[in-house]
Amino acid sequence: MKIVFGKILDELRHKNTADCRLLRGEFLLKLNVEGFPFSKHIGNGVKKYEEIKSVLPYFENIIILGIGGSALGTKMIYDAFPHLFNKKIYILDTTEPYEIDKLLNTVDIAKSLVISISKSGSTIETAGLTLLLIKRLKNEFGDLWKNRIFFITDPMSGDLREYSNENDFNSLSIPPELGGRYSVLSNVGLFPLYLSGFPVMELLEGAIEYLDDIKNDIVIDVFEFGHCNMYFYEKGYNILGLMPYVKRLKTFGEWFIQLWGESLGKINKKGEHIGQTPIVAVGPTDQHSIIQLFNEGPKDKVLIFFEELSDEININIEEKIDKKAFSYLHNKSFKEILDIELAGTLESLSDLGVPNILIQYDKLTPKEMGRTIMFSYLLTVFTAKLLEIDPFDQPGVEKGKKIMYKKLGKEGY
Ligand code: PA5
Repeated sequence: MKIVFGKILDELRHKNTADCRLLRGEFLLKLNVEGFPFSKHIGNGVKKYEEIKSVLPYFENIIILGIGGSALGTKMIYDAFPHLFNKKIYILDTTEPYEIDKLLNTVDIAKSLVISISKSGSTIETAGLTLLLIKRLKNEFGDLWKNRIFFITDPMSGDLREYSNENDFNSLSIPPELGGRYSVLSNVGLFPLYLSGFPVMELLEGAIEYLDDIKNDIVIDVFEFGHCNMYFYEKGYNILGLMPYVKRLKTFGEWFIQLWGESLGKINKKGEHIGQTPIVAVGPTDQHSIIQLFNEGPKDKVLIFFEELSDEININIEEKIDKKAFSYLHNKSFKEILDIELAGTLESLSDLGVPNILIQYDKLTPKEMGRTIMFSYLLTVFTAKLLEIDPFDQPGVEKGKKIMYKKLGKEGY
């Protein structure tokens, strides 16, 4: 993973002022001495997985019941590397009857393992779906149904933990201080990924390697981009757009939206409503869509592009082209065309003064994905430092949850 700064940001990043160095120093001190929940608990529990797997019954599908940070991380990896899985993963993260019905009609429950994941253990979607799936498992497996469900939740508190303890269900824990959107590199993401054949150790290796590079002050681009991005944010650049030219990173974009939006959209100490709105578009598809707005719309966006350099899959267009109008495509490969499309987009944006960076991979591998996840965590938490807000809470989400519980008549609300 290499970060290439576009012309506008490249000039700015070199203005590495004393202020920037001071803030980076403070951040590194905190990271090295205390750590953050996502750095302290990275890879927790992974050593036990093989033993757990060996006593599980045969299954072909995993049904994950979870929402937000309890599901999006797994989905992002599953969508980025479909070829590295030997089981199918289905995610139910909604109360919409159409979607529930669709899943139940698609997946063969007799060949499935259900994993119910919730940090708080009280999330309504997950609680409701867990009860529904237990009913289905009982119908399918009779007395043996308990072998078919697994719980991942807080070790001590929450409705799901209580329920799991009372019934002696199979379960794993989420460290109490680790919030949902920071949990993909814990049991939350790693356990279902491991069970479905994904090389979780490579993912962890990349994340740990990037973390170490940052801790040892070997890599500083995350700080440079953090500063540049906030410099523009203060000038009214309220949108951070991600545009992978690697379609299978689209769900990474959705995961990032949750991370950035829920961590940084806050009311600060002065009572101001702050935050930069994250969005995702996909190249080259959206070159025929939102890119017009990126180019000529309001000057309020900083953009991050993603590119995979590998031309391992070589698909050439027809060698003999009779029609003159198409002769420019003679002998071209689709990879060459994709590269040129991205280069064209970047050049036009730079000409029009839109700040951007490009994240390049020689090849998108689990290890590179691990680095990208750690880059995203550190960028978020460093940005929170610059904005002077807490990136680990979500009072706005909690407020909505409380209103909902009250309306549903949950005890204590
Ligand atoms: O990042 C977060 O904390 C949230 O998005 C949660 O992941 C989401 O609300 C689901 O919560 P829980 O894992 O408690 O069910």
